[in-house]
Amino acid sequence: MRRKLVIGNWKMHGDKAAIGQLLTTLRQILPRPANATVAVCPPFVYLDWVRQRLEGSGIDLGAQNLSTEAKGAFTGEVAPEMLRDCGCRYVIVGHSERRQLFGESDALVATKVSAALRAGLTPILCVGETLKQREAGSTLSVIEAQLGAVFTQLGAAIEQTVIAYEPVWAIGTGQTATPEQAQKVHAFIRRLLAAVTTKTAEISILYGGSVKADNAATLFSQPDIDGGLVGGASLNAEEFAAICKAAE
Ligand code: PGA
Repeated sequence: MRRKLVIGNWKMHGDKAAIGQLLTTLRQILPRPANATVAVCPPFVYLDWVRQRLEGSGIDLGAQNLSTEAKGAFTGEVAPEMLRDCGCRYVIVGHSERRQLFGESDALVATKVSAALRAGLTPILCVGETLKQREAGSTLSVIEAQLGAVFTQLGAAIEQTVIAYEPVWAIGTGQTATPEQAQKVHAFIRRLLAAVTTKTAEISILYGGSVKADNAATLFSQPDIDGGLVGGASLNAEEFAAICKAAE
């Protein structure tokens, strides 16, 4: 039985006042998650500050990006080991915003996934098609290529990752994939995993893209959807708590 997982991706939002308020409310209304794992991914500069405020809450910490390098002259970069040192358990890798706005290639994403694993972090590997690709009927081949690059570098170590299917057209648009659309891609991903591991049934595959309190339960009830990667709705304590409860 895969444990449900809900990850809040705060992106580049918040300041200490807003984040402090969000965490205080979240801790009041979200009872210690018993049957699901919950984590939040703040911007780098707030990681340690948020970690201190999460103590005893049962909520885990993650980062939104990482360097491929362990240390050295890489101005502006953050090493995987530094994220571990600041208490991170997870790191989001290959989010579509990184791919589209910062030119991250499938090969670079694969190297980042390896770097995360080496440092003892659980990478949340994001894949997903654009609207143009979906309309051209190439959704599955896009996913296959994105995952293929990681399979080549990782092989069976893919077992130690979490995969997030995030259709680009659903991110931040309010246009959520239907549970059927998402389930179809999730089942496809699980079949692809069989090329590199026998443990396909143990790997968590999250859905991301306009997950809200009112659509989380139906999405999470699909057989191959193991939780969500939540952007906008994770900035609202009530909304995020309701999504976490849907996962329980
Ligand atoms: P969204 O973002 O929930 O705001 O659509 C999801 C994501 O980018 O991970």
